[in-house]
Amino acid sequence: RPGAQAWVPEDPTLPALREAVQGCRGCELYRDATQGVMGDGDPDAALVLLGEQPGDKEDQEGEPFVGPAGRLLDEALEDAGIAPGSVFKTNVVKHFRWSGMRGKRRIHQSPHKAHVTACSPWLEAEFRVLRPTGVVVLGGTAGKAVFGASFKVGETRGRPLPWPDTLPVANPPQWVLPTTHPSAVLRAREERQASYDALVADLRVAASRL
Ligand code: URA
Ligand code: SF4
Repeated sequence: RPGAQAWVPEDPTLPALREAVQGCRGCELYRDATQGVMGDGDPDAALVLLGEQPGDKEDQEGEPFVGPAGRLLDEALEDAGIAPGSVFKTNVVKHFRWSGMRGKRRIHQSPHKAHVTACSPWLEAEFRVLRPTGVVVLGGTAGKAVFGASFKVGETRGRPLPWPDTLPVANPPQWVLPTTHPSAVLRAREERQASYDALVADLRVAASRL
């Protein structure tokens, strides 16, 4: 089938996946990106955080969530009583999709559904290695990847749900909890504090289930 499958090692380890993703041609996003960015963190983590795609900084450094959204996320994790180093963070798409510049930064573009579908074998491979108790889904793109096209953050956030059949994984977690993406908190203006507090509240629910 089209997509990343042909590049994914059959019996994956996390280091092998990091190396193999650099050769992926499963969709066109590799062309304008610096490198593929696989998940990172504690391989034995009870909690996996699932984001959208690497951003400008992540693309340069080759690590997920090392830019502004990642800093906000770590702060929110700490405020929720979760040590940022104890989790595993990854994304549904492994190459940075962007178009045009704003100052020195490349402008992020959300991936299309076709990119998410093409890239899903990498996420499935990560879930063959990881055995989390719970998964926190950050924002709409990750939510649609897990729950399907009708997913809406506002309708489901903060509630631990069963892992759905939409995205079959080898070791399904006991629950999956949607919340807002940290980038959405960064973009919020007057409601910034309320948006941040709501993210922390959702993460506290996750923490209480670990
Ligand atoms: N936003 C994401 O969804 N993932 C990252 O790795 C960084 C920013
Ligand atoms: Fe492969 Fe995913 Fe990168 Fe597309 S975004 S080239 S499917 S790793």
